[in-house]
Amino acid sequence: MADNLVYVVNGPNLNRLGTREPGIYGTDTLDTIAARVAARAEELGMTIEFCQSNHEGELVDWLHEADDADATAVLLNAGALTHTSVALHDAIKAISVPVIEVHLSNPHTREEFRHKSYVGMAAKGTIAGFGARSYLLALEAAAGL
Ligand code: DQA
Repeated sequence: MADNLVYVVNGPNLNRLGTREPGIYGTDTLDTIAARVAARAEELGMTIEFCQSNHEGELVDWLHEADDADATAVLLNAGALTHTSVALHDAIKAISVPVIEVHLSNPHTREEFRHKSYVGMAAKGTIAGFGARSYLLALEAAAGL
């Protein structure tokens, strides 16, 4: 068991941050966000496992892995799978590690199909709408768990 281990799990298209719809998601790349999260985690005495995949099953596997590793929390930005994935919903319910839903944008102010979150319905809480800072705010939340 790792002390204060936090998984940061990212879903489809988040590897395109930096150039992907910058008016909505900003210009920071996922690597930049990962570096900021790692720096803040060090200050908080936490260890980060940062991952991204465009494939649903891989995200499910990382949730299970976080549970097996007895992680403190998972920060999950599931991208579009947020709004479609019963498998991710079930995976969050199947593990005992608290999952914090993260979004750069605020899905509730966007298209109606983004208003439903299968992740949020199972998550401990949600942080959305603060751009790349959403990840740091979620990390602070995880530090308080
Ligand atoms: C997102 C919001 C989702 O609706 C979208 O599909 C994404 C990014 C966000 O971080 O704002 O891919 O999760």
